[in-house]
Order: sequence, then structure tokens, then C-alpha cells
Amino acid sequence: MNRRAIGIFDSGVGGLTVFRAVQRLMPRENLLYFGDTAHLPYGAKSKAAVTRFSLNIARFLISRKVKFLVVACNTASAWALDCLKESIQVPVVGVIEPGARIASQATLNRVVGIIGTEGTIQSASYPEALYRFDPKIRAVSAACPLLVPLVEEGWWNRKITLEIARGYVRPLKKTGMDTLILGCTHYPILKPVLLKVVGPKVKLVDSAEAVSLEVESLLMQTRLKNDSRGKPVYKFFASDAPDRFLKLARRFVPFSISKVEIVKFE
Ligand code: DGL
Repeated sequence: MNRRAIGIFDSGVGGLTVFRAVQRLMPRENLLYFGDTAHLPYGAKSKAAVTRFSLNIARFLISRKVKFLVVACNTASAWALDCLKESIQVPVVGVIEPGARIASQATLNRVVGIIGTEGTIQSASYPEALYRFDPKIRAVSAACPLLVPLVEEGWWNRKITLEIARGYVRPLKKTGMDTLILGCTHYPILKPVLLKVVGPKVKLVDSAEAVSLEVESLLMQTRLKNDSRGKPVYKFFASDAPDRFLKLARRFVPFSISKVEIVKFE
């Protein structure tokens, strides 16, 4: 049994989809969440910048004695995971490997689509992970930069969102993919829209759910699971704009977050 918290971080509020998936699967775990609202969006930033931000956040969470680190942000998982693994003393897991594993098991025709931020797609991390699981997979991908602001704006059910999603995904559909990885924290919110776009035959892989399964199995393996019956403690940190964090957070979790602590890095 280990009561220390799991640290989860993202560029902003989107990683709350991962927070939610982890909380649902492991309701006894204490969780610390960090949203780097001073530096978002990560999707259009360089590898060097995203790595620097991620290292600062990881060090902060380690100073708060987390037992395990989850990189909820796909872009940070794509650019910074290797560096974090080398520099951080606790187990660290990103969203890409778990998402790719589930997609490689789900696909029947071995054509897998990936949608994500520009950084995630440019890094080619998802295709590389897919090939490691199955070298015969053909990966096709598309960056969808407009989807993040549409989700944050709460425009989930608007016609324009459907049209924009359709525009991005159409070229992937033409390849005959039977599986689509939602390679960005915000996309699980758009599942109903994306289902309409791809049709019922294409399986959607939610990397938030995938990483929570991975976290649970790693906690068991490393004997770090918290089995205590006490009420779990959740703490939220952000690097800027706490009011906006709280406002947007309501769109991502079905409970209200009363407090977010601001942490600044030099
Ligand atoms: N959290 C980012 C991701 O999953 C999306 C938002 C951003 O670009 O910062 O890639």
C-alpha cells in the first residue's frame, strides 16, 4: 500500500480527461494535477520548449512526493517522455505507448489513423509505437489544430465543429482505416462528433482510457497501489490564470474544483 499521490500533468485543462479516467479506474488514489496554463498550447511549440516545461513540472511534482508520474499531454509525451524517464526518479508513463498498444490490438485491417496536435503528429511518436507493436501496421495521421480551441470554447455539438472535424479526418477515412487514435487530451470530449465523422465501423481509441489501464497495471506490478479506505485527496495546480482554469475545468470533470494553486517557474 502506498498513500503517496499520483502526479498527472498537461499543458492546461485538457489532461483532466486523463485525470478523470485515472480517478474512475482507481478511486482510492490521491491525485495531484498540474496544468501549465502559462505555456499552453504545447501543440505548436518546439521539442526543446515542451521538454523544458515538462521537466520543470515533473521536478515540482516530485518535490510534492508523488509516487508515479503520468504525462497526460500527448504533445509532451511525444517530445519529452524519453528525457523525463532519464531525469526523474519515479516511474513515468505517457499516453502514446498505451494508446498505440490498444490500437494495434483493435485494428483488423492494420490501417490505423492518428489525430493530434501539430507537435504530436510531427514527432511521429504514434506511428513509431504502432510499428513496434506490429511492423505491418500502416499509420496515417493528421494534425487538427482547430479542435482544441473548439473544445475549450464548449462548441462540442456545433455544426461548424462537425464540419471542421470532417475536413481533417476525410483524407484519413479515404485510406480505409478501421481504427482511429484520439491523440490529444481534448478529443475524448469530441467522441460523439468524431463517431459521426468516421462512421460506426471505425473504432476510436481513447488514449486517456488507455493510459489509465496502463497506470493501474504498473501500480500493481510495482506494489505502489493505494488500498487505504480513506477519502482520496485531489489537488490542482496551474502556472497561470486560475479563474480560466476553474471555468474550463467544469467542462472536463463532472464535479466542481474549488481551488487551484498557482505555481511559477523561473
Ligand atoms: N494537451 C495537448 C495534447 O494533448 C493539447 C493542447 C495543447 O496544444 O497544449 O497534445
